[in-house]
Amino acid sequence: MTSKIIAIDGPAGAGKSTVARGLAEQLGFTYLDSGALYRAVTWYLLSGGPKRPPGPSDARALAARQAQTESFISTASDEDLARSLDCLTIRMKDGRISVGDLDVTEIIRDLTVTRLVSMVSERRPVREKLMALQRAFANGNIVVEGRDMGTVVFPGAFLKIYLDANVAIRAGRRYQELGDSGVSTDYDEVYENLRMRDDRDTQRQIAPLSRAPDAVYVDTTYISPDEVVGLIRKLVATRARSLYRRWQNFFYQSTWLFLRALTSAYLRRRASGTDHPDRLPGPVIFASNHMSHLDPILVAVSTRRHLHFLAKRELAEIPIFGQVIHWLHIIPVRRGILDRDALDWVRSVLASGEAVLIFPEGTRSRDGTIHDAKAGFGKLVYESGAPTIPVRIIGSYQSFPPGALWPRPTPVRIQFGEPIQFRNDPNLPRSSDLREVYEYIGRTVMDRIRDLRDPAGPVESP
Ligand code: DC
Repeated sequence: MTSKIIAIDGPAGAGKSTVARGLAEQLGFTYLDSGALYRAVTWYLLSGGPKRPPGPSDARALAARQAQTESFISTASDEDLARSLDCLTIRMKDGRISVGDLDVTEIIRDLTVTRLVSMVSERRPVREKLMALQRAFANGNIVVEGRDMGTVVFPGAFLKIYLDANVAIRAGRRYQELGDSGVSTDYDEVYENLRMRDDRDTQRQIAPLSRAPDAVYVDTTYISPDEVVGLIRKLVATRARSLYRRWQNFFYQSTWLFLRALTSAYLRRRASGTDHPDRLPGPVIFASNHMSHLDPILVAVSTRRHLHFLAKRELAEIPIFGQVIHWLHIIPVRRGILDRDALDWVRSVLASGEAVLIFPEGTRSRDGTIHDAKAGFGKLVYESGAPTIPVRIIGSYQSFPPGALWPRPTPVRIQFGEPIQFRNDPNLPRSSDLREVYEYIGRTVMDRIRDLRDPAGPVESP
């Protein structure tokens, strides 16, 4: 069996270490924090390198050597720098890192090390030395994290993730981490250091921080490390079954063609505004009103985007039928609008740039009118950051009312509205009470669905 490498890259404070460590633990993989290697080199240079064998070093001693080390790093030739690293040996074991015989796990988090590490990591001899070390480390299933794991060190990684978050949130996390580990500092300094490192890490000539084209982008601003781990685990499971995925897509496409033709002929289905979803690349949430069992089919066959749907878990447990609906991208949900597992699925679908159909009302309307959105819907939209396309279904209640055994051949119409991007919405409440934000999102989406009452623009034949 070939070993799997999961590469996680991203800027400082995006949550890479917590996520990578948690993921490795849950999957039983080894964990490599490549940033710690760059920090170890920096500490080694700060503490005197080969000239002065590394000894116990406290924060004050490091600070006293900052200017001298900075000048060495910026002026030394590649040959001199490579020579000064000749005797450096770094080992990692059980989450501890040592340089020579000295355990440096804690001291490499010191602020003086943090100030110089980006500068050190720009130098070619440093990167070359560490590249070999990192590759030697990956001799089994491993989660690696850093800046260039997916782009340079492990370009063939089984799964690549790019974690990102808003800079103020990242600085807040780093500040908290330092405080928790007893390092006293102030927030502004942490914020400035982070910005400076972002610039250096993304603009350097060798192996700059960047997202590999095949990396899945995950914004961690609004989701917890546990949730990110859940999402990545789903991605691992999906990736492991890529052949299965091809079959799944083929099955979806064939069913789509058949039901598209059937609904057009039998229900005289008409769709309008289809340009909105069909031309929108990347993750998208379709939010539709819900009145009948026909609705998921009606929306799905009216757009060229492959949709993922939520359905009651009991359906997925019916033999054969459960399998078939799984091939049709159905995500089983336990109860209420979104259980945790289902939420991870939805996030992994969106993070992979795919589309999901959600009925914000949570359940079918019993009287054919449009009801309010459940709070969980607003939360999902807010956290995912994905654009939302409002969808209005007209006529499916008349065609297939509750209690009917078979749809009647009455006309149905599906209208797609313009995508809503809440992250850019100036009216989004700035309240610290997120429930207000979720309610606003739910209300706005339901209003936009109601506004689609009159068909806008020409009606398109399927
Ligand atoms: O993840 P961290 O903050 O501990 O990383 C410290 C620095 O190391 C970071 O600012 C850039 C550098 N680094 C790198 O250049 N390449 C990596 N793969 C990992 C870290």
